[in-house]
Amino acid sequence: MIETRLDLDRIHAARRVIDPVFLNTPLYRCDALGRQLGCDVSIKLETANPVRSFKARGTELVASLLAEQGRTGVVCASAGNLGQALGWSGGRRGLDVTVVASRRAPVAKLDRIRALGAELELVDGDFEMARERAVSLARQRDVRLLEDSLDLETCEGAATIGLELAGSPFDAVLIALGGGAMATGVGYVMKTLAPGVEVICVQPSGAPAMTRSWHERRVVTTESTDTIADGVAGRFPIPAVLDDLLAVADDAVLVRESSIIAGMRMLLEHTGLVVEPSAALGVAAVLEDRDRFAGRHVVSVICGGNVDLDAYHRWVR
Ligand SMILES: Cc1ncc(COP(=O)(O)O)c(C=O)c1O
Repeated sequence: MIETRLDLDRIHAARRVIDPVFLNTPLYRCDALGRQLGCDVSIKLETANPVRSFKARGTELVASLLAEQGRTGVVCASAGNLGQALGWSGGRRGLDVTVVASRRAPVAKLDRIRALGAELELVDGDFEMARERAVSLARQRDVRLLEDSLDLETCEGAATIGLELAGSPFDAVLIALGGGAMATGVGYVMKTLAPGVEVICVQPSGAPAMTRSWHERRVVTTESTDTIADGVAGRFPIPAVLDDLLAVADDAVLVRESSIIAGMRMLLEHTGLVVEPSAALGVAAVLEDRDRFAGRHVVSVICGGNVDLDAYHRWVR
């Protein structure tokens, strides 16, 4: 029995609430990429949906609950993808959605948050400052604050990816690690339904707080972050999420920026996928430790495709 805040029945129930457009995403073996990486590689594609990331699996749960409760507003801090997802899910249910983000977030993400009808407030600091501002805004307005990775819906939504993976014969699953909703959600399902599958979390060396925390088994914060993988660039791990991660992850590894870029380029060249940096973390992890994965079958969750085109061209050219 895996002890976390998650519960398998609730995760199964979540599938009945989430709009089917976000469910049963493509899962396929990619031989061309596998040949390059020296192992069997499957891709779980979370970008072919209206918000181009997995985050709507969680926001669907939150927004439907709020609508059921007759609530009208919701605030979240976002690195960019949660805000789009909440804009989509909340907008569909008539909720007033406010997103707080860093002014330094990718323009493509900020533009899409606005385009989805959400109110966008920008802060001059990083994601952690956006989190602080979101707390006070929600308090001021007396509306629900959605806290990514802390609020169970965000983990349960992401965990439905795990249900879609659990029946397949993989040796390892590679999961981008930010606040931890995806890793704890998917990890919980894998450890419950497919305990033989190795759950490996991947973070950039430039944003290592959660990975360091996992290794030291206590919350470790950092002063700053320095990575192009904006979706996973947090500094303050949440204690309850770390506890869950300790229960479900087999490993947490850090990768270099050059490997993330190489991963993005390989995903373009060998799978035809344009991904944001966070989605290339899994490939980067294989690139940095080929021997570990040689001959094994790994699945990498391609978790987001929201990227500024100019930056993307610069990276992959
Ligand atoms: C594309 C992408 N990958 C990975 C993550 C990290 O997910 P989590 O915060 O659930 O760990 C995020 C978070 O927003 C993201 O947008």
